[in-house]
Amino acid sequence: MKLHSKRLLAIAKAIAQHKQGTILADIGTDHAYLPCFLYDQGVIEKAYACDVAEGPLASSKQTIIANHMEGKIIPLLGNGLDPIVNEDVDMISICGMGGMLMIEILDAHNEMHDHRFFLQANNGLAELRAYLAGHHFCIIDEDLVEDAHHIYEYMVVEKGKMVLDEDDLLFGPINRQKKTELFRKKWQFELNVQKKIIASLPEGHPKRINVTQMIEKIEKVLA
Ligand SMILES: C[S@@+](CC[C@H](N)C(=O)[O-])C[C@H]1O[C@@H](n2cnc3c(N)ncnc32)[C@H](O)[C@@H]1O
Repeated sequence: MKLHSKRLLAIAKAIAQHKQGTILADIGTDHAYLPCFLYDQGVIEKAYACDVAEGPLASSKQTIIANHMEGKIIPLLGNGLDPIVNEDVDMISICGMGGMLMIEILDAHNEMHDHRFFLQANNGLAELRAYLAGHHFCIIDEDLVEDAHHIYEYMVVEKGKMVLDEDDLLFGPINRQKKTELFRKKWQFELNVQKKIIASLPEGHPKRINVTQMIEKIEKVLA
């Protein structure tokens, strides 16, 4: 089976690298591409492909049937982690959603926080990291991937303790240490955006303080 999304492929690699057990729940699975690919590659033995909406779940069922994975990849309808409360699960992936929705999903089931999570939020990363730090999670790995001219961040998370400062929240505690080429590309782009914003703001505009601070932070991390 071929995975056409570079983003999902990077997350699949992270799951293979940091795998814990053999049963995955993929929350917000849409077409169930990620769990089907991981099963095809022998990384997992079983998965729950969960989605809140009927349409995506129907797409999941099509992918499962097309790849003859019935009984191995199990489609479940429901909100967030609700469908797996009574299921035996080792790892949970939540990808392709906003960070605030991800926080809602995690916060609704504190009893499931001892699983290993693979999270790829499209936005709200600082808020997500702050939530994780405040709820006894620890980021054990993180990285970035470029797909269709967009740079995504993803992280591997489990129960633990971490203290994050403001720069960790913004840049990612591990990403800012790794400082990969892609990290530099993302933040160089963001620096240019912020410089354009400040150039468009008149002297004395209240937003200038925040934008200036952001420029200083980015210049510091890229130095
Ligand atoms: C943009 S797709 C991402 C699909 C896939 N995870 C990926 O990364 O390519 C987001 C999916 O999350 C589902 N979703 C949104 N809110 C959800 C929730 N509260 N619980 C479960 N699934 C949800 C949507 O129905 C949709 O299928």
